[in-house]
Amino acid sequence: MAKHTIVTMPGDGIGNQVLPEAIRVLDAVGFEADYVHAGIGWECWIKEGNALPERTVELLRRHKVGLFGAITSKPKKEAEAELTPALRGKGYQYFSPIVSLRQKFNLDICMRPCLSFPGNPLNFIRKKPTGGYEEPRVNAVVFRQNTEGLYAGVEWSNPSQKVLDALRTHAKFKPFENVAGEDLAISVRIVTRPAARRICEAAFQYARQFGFKSVTICEKPNVLRETSGLMEEVAREVQKRYSEIPLWSTNIDAQTMWLTKNPEDYGVIVASNLFGDVISDAFAGLVGGLGFAASGNIGEEVAVFEPTHGSAPKYAELDPPIVNPIAMILSAAMMLDHLDERDKAEIIRNAIAWVVAEGKVRTYDMLRIPGGAKSLAQGAASTTQMTDAILEKIGVGVEAVLTARAGF
Ligand code: NAI
Ligand code: MG
Repeated sequence: MAKHTIVTMPGDGIGNQVLPEAIRVLDAVGFEADYVHAGIGWECWIKEGNALPERTVELLRRHKVGLFGAITSKPKKEAEAELTPALRGKGYQYFSPIVSLRQKFNLDICMRPCLSFPGNPLNFIRKKPTGGYEEPRVNAVVFRQNTEGLYAGVEWSNPSQKVLDALRTHAKFKPFENVAGEDLAISVRIVTRPAARRICEAAFQYARQFGFKSVTICEKPNVLRETSGLMEEVAREVQKRYSEIPLWSTNIDAQTMWLTKNPEDYGVIVASNLFGDVISDAFAGLVGGLGFAASGNIGEEVAVFEPTHGSAPKYAELDPPIVNPIAMILSAAMMLDHLDERDKAEIIRNAIAWVVAEGKVRTYDMLRIPGGAKSLAQGAASTTQMTDAILEKIGVGVEAVLTARAGF
């Protein structure tokens, strides 16, 4: 039996193109695993009325680690219309399976590294005051609380009398008291101390383990006094056990501005759900965007690793596929870190860095040309060619891959 069993959930669209590429790379670095396929996404919804079948949940419960591609979601009416006729009108409701997974297994820590690979034409550059340009080295890791905050799902349109009565107990609700129910929508932002502690603890632990010089809590406590206030309070409390790592505090709005002024100043960033979502996308934009953005959803028992991008339906049918597999491959490397196979993860990241630095093999997004069947003729590498290039570097040998990195 192999050392690990990994539940693979390619899902929809390009998820099916990029996930097998990640497995080729995992094989090449000698990761010993059995892969168990599990259905998830639109196909499952259409045929079974459930985008996250119970058997998939069961497989994850048993094997604990998942690799996920991407899923397609569509608005309520379209979802109902595409359901197999036998299931229509029977009260089936579409729920995003990745959101369901996060809730079911309490995958409350979302980790999103944003690492720039030198030579990537998509990297952020800035003007130097002395003339010319420079490319700051970005290496930020966002820890986003994944289950609470404004995404907890406690919300109403046209709230019931009970809800309104409860809200009236708050003095600040006065200006809204007479708004007609159908003109009123409310979302509740929930922060709990245990979840805040877990995300802050995870951030500091990571900073210590990987030698980051600071942790930044990115909230808005001057306005969101209660919820952001609690996040800050907990972050300060946790920091006391990590006295060598200073805690910086920024406001989400200001942080998005500083991001493009001096992104190299930031190391580990911790934030509640919505703010973490915003700041991690913003950082990802500085280091290559969707083709490079990897993530991990980590709970106490189960962890699922996925690229940030979706199913990109417009490219899903192209043969050969043209999308960039690097985000998926980097997600697989995060999985290796999680499984204490850090040496193998480093080989993968270094091989990617080498390919990017050489600049000979680039997918369409890296060339900044429109995606489509024509992009290959314009010099873009296909999905498979990009993986082949990474495999070639791995094939050169561990020593060479690890030392080549020092040169970039
Ligand atoms: P998307 O991420 O699927 O694609 C947006 C655009 O980004 C693509 O059209 C393409 O130009 C580019 N892109 C994405 N991945 C790329 C890659 N690996 N290489 C090169 N270019 C890439 O987002 P979109 O179009 O908003 O959503 C499509 C579907 O995916 C929707 O049904 C949406 O609900 C779903 N989605 C699923 C996610 C998930 O599975 N976690 C996340 C985001 C969207
Ligand atoms: Mg997002």
